[in-house]
Amino acid sequence: MTLYGVGLGPGDSELITVKGRRTLEAADVIYTPGRLSRSVAREYVSESQLGDLDFPMTRDEDELRRAWKEAASEVAPTAREGTAAFVTLGDPNVYSTFGHLRRTLDRFHPEVEVETIPGVSTVTAFATAFGVEITAGSELVLREAARGAAPVGPDRLVLFKITDVSKTHEKLIEAGYDVIYGRRLFMDGYETIVTDDPTELEERDYYTVAYAEKPGTGEAPATAAFGTETEADGGERTRPAGSRSSSDVTGPDGGQIADQLAAAEVGGDGEAYRNMEETDD
Ligand SMILES: C[S@@+](CC[C@H](N)C(=O)[O-])C[C@H]1O[C@@H](n2cnc3c(N)ncnc32)[C@H](O)[C@@H]1O
Repeated sequence: MTLYGVGLGPGDSELITVKGRRTLEAADVIYTPGRLSRSVAREYVSESQLGDLDFPMTRDEDELRRAWKEAASEVAPTAREGTAAFVTLGDPNVYSTFGHLRRTLDRFHPEVEVETIPGVSTVTAFATAFGVEITAGSELVLREAARGAAPVGPDRLVLFKITDVSKTHEKLIEAGYDVIYGRRLFMDGYETIVTDDPTELEERDYYTVAYAEKPGTGEAPATAAFGTETEADGGERTRPAGSRSSSDVTGPDGGQIADQLAAAEVGGDGEAYRNMEETDD
């Protein structure tokens, strides 16, 4: 009776929600838009539960509409007679292929009910990976920065789809930002990179995100004062809680950037894969 759009999280199979996992386990067929989402889903369901859909790597709108109509015609009977799921990396409603499927079903198969189970998105996962705290009162803007673009203006930006790090970096630095990049954050089987050095990211990899912040924009929440109190004040002498230098950026496991870089070659077969613009989410 229903198609569930299930967010898998960034690629670590333990970062799926309990509800998402239960929904996958109960689904008759689970459709996956790519190899990464398929391998995360495979942690919870058998290969025989996975359905096949074709996703063309094209920007041609006619071709895209044709492909999504075909995909919807494939999914609709399963969702009418039972339960189907369509998984995406991150959250299904954040820059995701799921929106195409939902709109196409709404238009051509309105009898299919569609529900979404949210997932841990890169929009939030970056903060933990980079050791960044978005304090109360902060403004944070989400933008795309493909092919060397660098949308600037707001004090804090999260930039998705960075395919030319050096060009984007040049523009961000010129506009006065401090920038941290993360590649393949929380993704099983791949090397995670967290760095402020664009030369480490010369190889193109679609799964790259950046956090850009204008220096001095940090709010000072009440507890930040603990960082400036002296021992005599009853506090410890440390940097204010909100301040951070690039050398103490923490990674997903709470380690420093150096630890992240030392953790290279965690495995993975990503060489050919990382050069493609995947639509796995
Ligand atoms: C089509 S968007 C999909 C976003 C996804 N639905 C989400 O909620 O995170 C793809 C972009 O998300 C970012 N991204 C997704 N997963 C990532 C990861 N594990 N590490 C770094 N960036 C990631 C990259 O910027 C990538 O180009």
